[in-house]
Amino acid sequence: MAGVELKNIKKSYDGRHNVIDGADAIIKDKEFIVIVGSSGCGKSTVLRMIAGLEDITSGEIIINDKVVNKLPPKDRDIAFVFQNYALYPHMSVYDNMAFGLKMRKYKKSEIKQKVEEAADILGLKPYLNRKPKQLSGGQRQRVALGRAIVRNPKVFLMDEPLSNLDANLRVKMRSEIKKLHKKLETTFIYVTHDQTEALTMADRIMVLDKGVIQQFDTPENIYTHPKNKFVAGFLGQMNFITSKVDDNGIEINGCKINLSHSVKERLEGMHEVIVGIRPEAMNGSEYRIKITPEITELTGSSKNVYFKLNGADCMSIVPAGSTDYSAGINTKDLYFFDSFSGEAI
Ligand SMILES: Nc1ncnc2c1ncn2[C@@H]1O[C@H](COP(=O)(O)OP(=O)(O)OP(=O)(O)O)[C@@H](O)[C@H]1O
Ligand SMILES: [Mg+2]
Repeated sequence: MAGVELKNIKKSYDGRHNVIDGADAIIKDKEFIVIVGSSGCGKSTVLRMIAGLEDITSGEIIINDKVVNKLPPKDRDIAFVFQNYALYPHMSVYDNMAFGLKMRKYKKSEIKQKVEEAADILGLKPYLNRKPKQLSGGQRQRVALGRAIVRNPKVFLMDEPLSNLDANLRVKMRSEIKKLHKKLETTFIYVTHDQTEALTMADRIMVLDKGVIQQFDTPENIYTHPKNKFVAGFLGQMNFITSKVDDNGIEINGCKINLSHSVKERLEGMHEVIVGIRPEAMNGSEYRIKITPEITELTGSSKNVYFKLNGADCMSIVPAGSTDYSAGINTKDLYFFDSFSGEAI
């Protein structure tokens, strides 16, 4: 049983500016959590504070119902997998996996059993005598995972573990890590800036921006009910179009779009709003707005069409054979954001 709780966590490296500015979250036992956000937003800092590799400026981190702020990393029952694997080059795969256990003075027979078990789970049995340089990138990554598994941790922390792998291998390792999570039944906290990894792997996604948790929810909810413009644009793509608001609704490229009573109520008193629509939702039939394509890109069975709506750069994803150059909008697919705060309306 090992949930992880963050209570009003703040972190400053320079004593002036908070890199993490009051993070609160409850991560449940056995959950697979993915932390996403742009470079420099504080993802690794959060993970390193949970691991105990970085001091916390204020707040509490609770693992397994125990405040761990003062506990050294080795006593936190966690294992950390880094982006660069950090394997010992002169040691065999077996010794790399056994190293942490030897340091903790486990019995030889126990180490053998644990390493073999982990090697079995990860398909590494044929490679136990090889050195890291005799392995492929994916195999090396599995050794790094194996080193974490043998310790039998309550919480796995992974910081962009797949970013050194090529695209195909990433997809493969993605599902291997998911399977591993199922098999081990422990809590995983996984950092990435790859939105596909986040959407496909997570039970819940924590979206960080500027040191603040913007939203912490299931992939489905984040995709369909983003809390603000940042989240909407970060997970999945979204076009953002500024429009005037009048008594009937909005206007895009001269086309008046009537909005339902309930939406108009939400927009009451506003003169301007940011309208959001996902590229894949631009095949609607309620309103067809003539556009001038600037570029089209064939991506296989579909193509991306780039154009402007109310002066904003937009993109639609349409079937490859489509020759209808209009943007199709159904009002149910529209999102609305406050043009000042970016909050969803
Ligand atoms: N040891 C440090 N001393 C001072 N500032 C630091 C230190 N480590 C990180 N920072 C700063 O804290 C902020 C958050 O860094 P962090 O490494 O957590 O970001 P990240 O989200 O993991 O980014 P990336 O996706 O590039 O790995 C950044 O502005 C970074 O420059
Ligand atoms: Mg990082």
